[in-house]
Amino acid sequence: MTHVLHRQIGQTYPVAANSQGVTIRDTAGREYIDASSGAAVSCLGHSHPDVLAAMRAQLDGLAYAHTSFFTTQVAEELADDLVAHAPEGIGHVFFVSGGSEAIEAALKLARQYFVERGEPQRRYIIARRQSYHGITLGALAVGGRDWQRKQFGPLLIETYHVSPAYEYRGRRADETQQAYGERLAWELANKIEELGGDSVIAFVAETVVGATLAAVPAVPGYFKRIREICDRHGILLILDEVMCGMGRTGTLHACEQEGVSPDLMAIAKGLGGGYAPIGALLMQDKIFDTVAEGSGAFLHSHTFMGHPLACAAALAVQRVIRRDKLLTNVQTQGAYLLRRLNERFGNHPFVGDVRGRGLLQGVELVADRDTKEPFDSRLKLHARVKREAMARGLMVYPMGGTVDGARGDHVLLAPPFIVDAPLLDTVVERLGEAIDAATGKTKNPEHDARSEVR
Ligand SMILES: Cc1ncc(COP(=O)(O)O)c(C=O)c1O
Repeated sequence: MTHVLHRQIGQTYPVAANSQGVTIRDTAGREYIDASSGAAVSCLGHSHPDVLAAMRAQLDGLAYAHTSFFTTQVAEELADDLVAHAPEGIGHVFFVSGGSEAIEAALKLARQYFVERGEPQRRYIIARRQSYHGITLGALAVGGRDWQRKQFGPLLIETYHVSPAYEYRGRRADETQQAYGERLAWELANKIEELGGDSVIAFVAETVVGATLAAVPAVPGYFKRIREICDRHGILLILDEVMCGMGRTGTLHACEQEGVSPDLMAIAKGLGGGYAPIGALLMQDKIFDTVAEGSGAFLHSHTFMGHPLACAAALAVQRVIRRDKLLTNVQTQGAYLLRRLNERFGNHPFVGDVRGRGLLQGVELVADRDTKEPFDSRLKLHARVKREAMARGLMVYPMGGTVDGARGDHVLLAPPFIVDAPLLDTVVERLGEAIDAATGKTKNPEHDARSEVR
């Protein structure tokens, strides 16, 4: 009997015992290829000797010093490193311990910025449906997954949601990519007008939508138009790169490929590569300067922010990525993975779309390719795919609710940056078998209420 409150109560999880490179082993001796880096976390794979050495060295010197008393060399170095490679205008970093904390900090810093600028009437946040920004109350309020928000509704701050940039289902057949992007931009502009331009704090979006839609980049030009609209009304653009950032899409920041620089940007997951819990909020100088010249303090902190061990891990991860030119590998292997997925699933009767950028790729499952009709959600097809993949020694990240929060299934792939082509061949082969096995049984569904995955 377990005393841990696991994600799915009553489910028996394999016990992870050790890991190396792209492989995790359980206590029963089974091996799993980590083709999702957990949840797009383990960007360097597992047990990287250089990261472990940096962490040991940090522990030998200093494990912890509270940030109200001290700064540390390693936190300063990591901040320098992040700023040196950040989008234009970003000059400071606020450290936290994960993605939700980074989003909470973004929301509060955005609000404090306007209060200190003498615009306390700004109170609304606009975000997008079918998005995920974290699980704490502020992040949940901003996120667009109704099924996760619904029961906590009375506790959530007031937020407004517009359509996601979801080309596969959102773009009309008679519409160009550009016209679709323009229509979405107008939707945001109209929402801002409706609320009153000077009462909106920020627009929040994942640069590439991760787990909710499975690796969906925006159509070309979308973010440039969004940036213009935000600027016109003095509204902050908060980009959530918790999943898609830190090299995952082939550039250090996903927004580099969109040609925009955000006012605030949340990063986590790949920042520390899973070696330690760490996230960060990157901010434009104008925001830092306003608070620095105003009250002089951001009214927000955590006991473990800037933890030296986490900073040492993140600094080592970022140095290895640069030293080993791993972003080039992300681009090369990402293109290879996309090609292999298209070869395997391009004519698959139950795969409607293959998409992604770099080593963040998604496969959307449909019951009918022509109508894009999803499978009956009671089948929990995503959970079946996960079970079938695990049975074949493969970790991928399937999820349901792709279409509207209730219907639809997809599989997200996010392998470590160190993968090569033969490994990706094995991943695609096993995933193909898992999807075939999971979809082959759908005529006689056995509804397993405990099989849902997150
Ligand atoms: C885009 C995005 N934002 C925020 C979060 C929340 O991060 P965390 O789980 O570290 O709190 C996630 C986690 O999956 C995410 O994918």
